[in-house]
Amino acid sequence: METRSTRDRPGSGGMLRTKSIEQSIRDTEEPEHALRKSLSALDLTVFGVGVIIGTGIFVLTGKVAKETAGPAVALSFVAAGVVCALAALCYAEFASTVPVAGSAYTFAYASIGEFPAWIIGWDLVLELALGCAVVAVGWSGYAQSLLATAGVTLPDWLRGPSNGGGFDLLAALLVLLVTAILVAGVKLSSRVTTIIVGIKVTVVLLVIAVGAFFVKGENYRPFVPPAEPTQGGRGIDQSAVQALFGFTPSNFGVMGIFAGAAVVFFAFIGFDIVATAAEETRRPARDLPRGILGSLAICTILYVAVSVVVTGMQKYSDLSVSAPLADAFKAVGRPFWAGLISFGAIVGLTSVCMIMLLGQSRVFFAMSRDGLLPRSFSRVHPKFGTPYRSTVVLGVLVAVVAGFTSISELAELVNIGTLFAFVVVAVGVIVLRRTRPDLPRNFRTPLVPWLPAASVLASLWLMLNLPLETWLRFAVWMLLGFAVYFFFGRSHSRVSTRG
Ligand code: ALA
Repeated sequence: METRSTRDRPGSGGMLRTKSIEQSIRDTEEPEHALRKSLSALDLTVFGVGVIIGTGIFVLTGKVAKETAGPAVALSFVAAGVVCALAALCYAEFASTVPVAGSAYTFAYASIGEFPAWIIGWDLVLELALGCAVVAVGWSGYAQSLLATAGVTLPDWLRGPSNGGGFDLLAALLVLLVTAILVAGVKLSSRVTTIIVGIKVTVVLLVIAVGAFFVKGENYRPFVPPAEPTQGGRGIDQSAVQALFGFTPSNFGVMGIFAGAAVVFFAFIGFDIVATAAEETRRPARDLPRGILGSLAICTILYVAVSVVVTGMQKYSDLSVSAPLADAFKAVGRPFWAGLISFGAIVGLTSVCMIMLLGQSRVFFAMSRDGLLPRSFSRVHPKFGTPYRSTVVLGVLVAVVAGFTSISELAELVNIGTLFAFVVVAVGVIVLRRTRPDLPRNFRTPLVPWLPAASVLASLWLMLNLPLETWLRFAVWMLLGFAVYFFFGRSHSRVSTRG
């Protein structure tokens, strides 16, 4: 067994020091900084489905079908699902080997080194905090639409940038409410989540079962609409792959399926968050892989079915971009079902928002416990056993972001950040097999190094299908992260101070 707490590589200036896996596990046992272990495989699957099904299927399906892929959006879901399945097989090995809070951040710290781990942690802030804000804004849109049906309209200055202007009051209130629930304890939030997930999955199954009666074959023709040049031309809104290889920027066609996949990828974000709850899992070695792969499989099947049904109910060019599932039922003269689906969407998005914030607070917690962020954030509440400081700080920040920003651009930024995390995790699986072949692995990724290599290429391919503008924003965010690491994290790291 490894006895040193850290390993370093000569000439790396400490940036490639790794935190040993034994040390990572020991840290979770310090009473002041320890989380309660209470989750089972079923809890994890429910967590997974709870966070995975959300804005992606309820909102982005319509937008991608209408503007990018046509009825072939179902294939976009398949492509994004394959990318996620490859990543999930890598996540499952890491999560069952390094069962401590922090997801890809912790995995990278144990395998590649401190600086890459910092990059990943910083990157996860993008995925989880901004993702939570995006979902809260989507929730607010649905909530405002239901309120409008009941004759209640908010003043313009309280509707939010995506819904009419001003500050998005409902989105901000939702985030604050969720923060309070999380501070009160994981078990409580897990119970609330179970009920919410039940409602959400029922509504999705209703869309499939009831919608199937309204499908018309002609709506599927053409299934893959012919490629059309985009309006914007060669600006920074063209995808990186089109810019790199000099294609004429276009929508639809075969390239449209992949461009669509890079957007609907958002619908799958969340299975990786199951891994962030590793430290709170009773038997992580067995339960984590089950939770991650199980929730991903369930969601992929549901997404493909929903997109096939919805594009069969209504011509893709007529689909709504704000509430496509509900509006497809209105279009076939079934307003009752439309109302029910809107209700399910509102309930469902609440759980997504909650679990994203949970994952985020745990990553922040892990980074703070390691000294890369101020240590005081990793104090656990004496009564609730939750990392209340990081939860409250992040909850308030996310509420402000949700109040002032619009959905669409943020969602693509979230995707690029998450895909980047997938790349690092897949590389980490290969590295850890070489550096620590001795570690017990309760779940082993098949076909190493080929499968992780395929995962890296598949994630990079989706990243390349995102707009140049998204790449620029991502670069700015990462540069900011480098600055924080070099001015704070590097000198405060516990691994460096502990030696
Ligand atoms: N997968 C989550 C959603 O679609 C983030 O909202």
